[in-house]
Amino acid sequence: MDALDFLKSEHESIKGYFSNYEQTAAQDQKRKIFNQIRRDLELHFYLEETILYRAFEDFVDIKDIVKRAFGEHAIAKIPLKRLGEIGVSDKESESLFQELKKSIFEHIDFEETDFFTAIRKVMKRPERERMGRLMQAERQERLEAA
Ligand SMILES: [Fe+2]
Ligand SMILES: [Fe+2]
Repeated sequence: MDALDFLKSEHESIKGYFSNYEQTAAQDQKRKIFNQIRRDLELHFYLEETILYRAFEDFVDIKDIVKRAFGEHAIAKIPLKRLGEIGVSDKESESLFQELKKSIFEHIDFEETDFFTAIRKVMKRPERERMGRLMQAERQERLEAA
């Protein structure tokens, strides 16, 4: 699978978890969904940072985009980490959750427009497919090791 299609499908599933979370009122259910969000986001960030971002960090036309993407990950990791510490039932957690959601949704939009468009210009499909296979294998490996 094309790496960009693979990442897009991950984005869709992550966005789905955010709406599941907002549609449930049960605390234990919220906790379960949040754990899913955290696991998937951490893995997604890892795959992007170590495979995709790394591949383009020295590209003249793309390196500023990569820098911004790394920065957005760092920003999203703050409420993500904090929520992991305090749990989802704390009074602080609702605003942290909204902060996380906003930064993730904006980041996804940025990746799927500016970033992916720039990548398509410099990386042909066979190479994107090779990268997609690498990401899928790495994801599987990390899930099995967890
Ligand atoms: Fe990202
Ligand atoms: Fe992403």
